[in-house]
Amino acid sequence: MSSSLVPAVQCIGVPRESHPGEKRVATVPEVVEKLIKLGFKVAVQSGAGEAANFSDEAYRAAGAEVIADAAALWAASDIVLKVRPPSPEEAGLLREGSLLIDFIWPAQNPDLMQQLAARRATVLAIDCLPRTLSRAQKMDALTSTAGVSGYRAVIEAANAFGRFFNGQITAAGKVPPAKVFIAGAGVAGLAAIGTAANLGAIVRANDTRAEVADQVKSLGGEFVKVDYEEEGSGGGGYAKVMSEGFQAAQRAMYAQQAKESDIIITTALIPGKPAPKLITAEMVQTMKPGSVIVDMAAEQGGNCELTVPGEAVVRHGVTIIGYTDLASRLARQSSTLYATNLLRLLEELCKAKDGRAVVNMEDDAIRGLTVIKDGAITWPAPPLQQASPPAPKAAAAPVEQKKGGHGHGASGPLPAKTLAILFAVAAVAFWFIGAYAPAAFLGHFTVFVLACFIGYMVVWNVTPALHTPLMSVTNAISSIIAIGALVQIAPPGAGMNGRPDGLIQWLAFAALVLTAVNMFGGFAVTRRMLDMFRK
Ligand code: NAI
Repeated sequence: MSSSLVPAVQCIGVPRESHPGEKRVATVPEVVEKLIKLGFKVAVQSGAGEAANFSDEAYRAAGAEVIADAAALWAASDIVLKVRPPSPEEAGLLREGSLLIDFIWPAQNPDLMQQLAARRATVLAIDCLPRTLSRAQKMDALTSTAGVSGYRAVIEAANAFGRFFNGQITAAGKVPPAKVFIAGAGVAGLAAIGTAANLGAIVRANDTRAEVADQVKSLGGEFVKVDYEEEGSGGGGYAKVMSEGFQAAQRAMYAQQAKESDIIITTALIPGKPAPKLITAEMVQTMKPGSVIVDMAAEQGGNCELTVPGEAVVRHGVTIIGYTDLASRLARQSSTLYATNLLRLLEELCKAKDGRAVVNMEDDAIRGLTVIKDGAITWPAPPLQQASPPAPKAAAAPVEQKKGGHGHGASGPLPAKTLAILFAVAAVAFWFIGAYAPAAFLGHFTVFVLACFIGYMVVWNVTPALHTPLMSVTNAISSIIAIGALVQIAPPGAGMNGRPDGLIQWLAFAALVLTAVNMFGGFAVTRRMLDMFRK
């Protein structure tokens, strides 16, 4: 009756994943509560979260309706949240004109795209999110999934490897640390580096994009360079296919790493291309017996020649793991992260919190995600205006500097001539001050110049990551002005020449209390910040 005036609240439906072996679910009870706060109704197919350890009961307690039958669930849903692209049967169940949000991979699934368009659906492919848009990071399910997979790859390797990761000296003998080599340091590779380093292994990594070297180091790994100059960034933060010359040099380096490493984890991918073959059968032969390879690129053809997608096989005494469901093997974690990514997306779609999703094609992130709008295929989205990510540019700078001798940018070092002139001017100014300034001023001035010099040396020698704790400790030290307050409370000679002014004393007392808070608070905050950097 009133529906013509007040549009009905939309129902979000979460079916049970039908792909064999898929354990993830598109939403979790904790997120259901938040979706309901956005004004939506939520319906979950019975058993949808079972494999990820979320019971129907937990969904019900969070406020969702649990529907036993798949067809009934799809029919009740205005918005469907899924993980895997829908099967042809599922696409057939999608209600005409409804909204579907999940991984679609439109380039690989043209038939599915046609089928969904025929349903006059609107489809948001979570894999098409413009990842370089910093505002979109909270919705980046590719990153959260790759992070979980990278972690799991190390756990799978540890499970198949017959030794400790960390070095140990025990009464029973000395155990050397495991040597792990990571090929490709994108999101998954970096997660693997961090996990393996935390387990105590010696971690080395390589990537064609030189800009990741610092990220590798910051996670406790060592970046191994290929002895060949070629920039590997192919735009949008992704890699490109490298030249023959580079590939030959890379093979030589990988052959050496294969001989030295106990575990190799490969993650190298190039968008729209088969995975580059980095580990040859000969390299596998040279590895020590009991070594492990985890090929995270197995689904895209594999980085290792001997990988069997979806399986773990033993070749030349080396276990080669080609599982394509690494994220699903940590189903509870990856479901929770994925559900949170979708929640952030729904918050963007339902800014009014009125339980109705609005697909705003003017929004760059939403435009990128929308592959079908009301039955019309809108994929691929036009490139973003500011699509190029900052990282590759940052990597290009040092190369330019090496070629050109000294830098010529605004932030580069000053040319020798300018520096010499500056020194000459400063020397004359100092001589002038020394010759004519009063003696009392000179004393203060010397202290001031020395303080500037020491301050400069201290700040510039502190790594940028620690600048925030440095600021807070400097803030705490600045409370040295407490001495001024102390002097005012009991001025020198006050005992002999009479009492100090009462008002000044109280003001000094207040100043003392405030500086004490600043001092102790500053040191406490610094300590907490530094603790975050300690392992
Ligand atoms: P990916 O899964 O497509 O590739 C994995 C890695 O393999 C990449 O680092 C790539 O450079 C490397 N690779 C490709 N060919 C190789 C070869 N022959 N040898 C060695 N390594 C090779 O990439 P992923 O992990 O999805 O993301 C890659 C990049 O995307 C990120 O590092 C970042 O620059 C960008 N990105 C940006 C985000 C943002 O700005 N918000 C968010 C997520 C990713």
